[in-house]
Amino acid sequence: MKAVVDENMEESYKRIIKISRIIQYTTAVAMALFGLFALGGIGIAVYPYDAEMIVSFHRSLIDSVNLLPSDLIRSFMGEDHLRLQVILTGVFIFLFGILLVYLIHEYRKIFKKITSSRSPFTRETSGDFRKLSNKALLICLFSTLLGLALFLLLRLFAYIFEYGAYLQDKADETSRIQEEMIMSLAEITENKSEQTGKHVRRVAEYSLLMAEEMGIDEDEAKMIRLASTMHDIGKLLIPDSILEKPARLTDEEFAVIKKHPGYGGDLLNNVEGDVMRMARTVALEHHERPDGRGYPEGKKGNSLSIEGRIVAVADVYDALTSNRSYKKAWDEKDAYEEIVKGRGTQFDEGVIDAFIKAYPKINAVREKLQE
Ligand SMILES: [Fe+2]
Ligand SMILES: [Fe+2]
Repeated sequence: MKAVVDENMEESYKRIIKISRIIQYTTAVAMALFGLFALGGIGIAVYPYDAEMIVSFHRSLIDSVNLLPSDLIRSFMGEDHLRLQVILTGVFIFLFGILLVYLIHEYRKIFKKITSSRSPFTRETSGDFRKLSNKALLICLFSTLLGLALFLLLRLFAYIFEYGAYLQDKADETSRIQEEMIMSLAEITENKSEQTGKHVRRVAEYSLLMAEEMGIDEDEAKMIRLASTMHDIGKLLIPDSILEKPARLTDEEFAVIKKHPGYGGDLLNNVEGDVMRMARTVALEHHERPDGRGYPEGKKGNSLSIEGRIVAVADVYDALTSNRSYKKAWDEKDAYEEIVKGRGTQFDEGVIDAFIKAYPKINAVREKLQE
């Protein structure tokens, strides 16, 4: 659902940017033409041309710019005071130009806001377009048709952005519900396995910090954080007697535990949505190693997803620094050394570099989210 909404919005967003560009180019050309006319008008007014030339220039000027005030003046004055009429027409063109420049300036401000924002469809932007459309009505004082056309176009933008904001709200709502469902699933898994309390939350935060450090796009980094919470979902299918055993596991029991990534993959098979698909990958890959000595499939290096490689580090670091029924938590410095030692073998090199850089933050999260 969210993906579909996002695609629609992306599509309309691209269209709006395209239309905006066209508007900007056409107004620039129109401005240049008006500028020429204005200059011509001033030139005619101050230079002593003969009367016939002024008559013909005035005709062509009025006919081409078609400004409401000039038309009115001509219908009043007829063919009298032509020089004055030309000057007045020049003044109107000038005022008209200033108004257009002002509107374009305002329009550019909105346009800038739209292009610099990650989620451009907001009610605020819709309001901006609405206000601008009202201002565009002033153009009607000079040219009724142009004023109305600009008004309608800007109003249309206002409606598009309002509808976009509505869709955005819906998408946010859907992802909030998805997020809540994911968190409950994570909680169920936690209650079932020996890991108590905040393991899942810490792994999620560590994963986010490393992803950010690696320069992964903000949305994707957040998705990794969320997806990571389901990494052990396969443990739901492992018998309690093994999960809750307060001692070291036998080889047979450990072989059963090692099935949980595969179970997780099965549980999340056929899921829809980006986060859920990523969760499936994480569940399947969080015990794999770049050197191929991980489980369940012994996948190697580049065949592992980036999210799988990140969560693998977060999960082990948290396992080392937490108490378990069969072991005490390691000292934080020893755990750090152990993780860094695995660079290129147990863990991905790039992820470990990010782990090292983000370590002060990771350590702070560990302290904050202690049991
Ligand atoms: Fe696991
Ligand atoms: Fe875990």
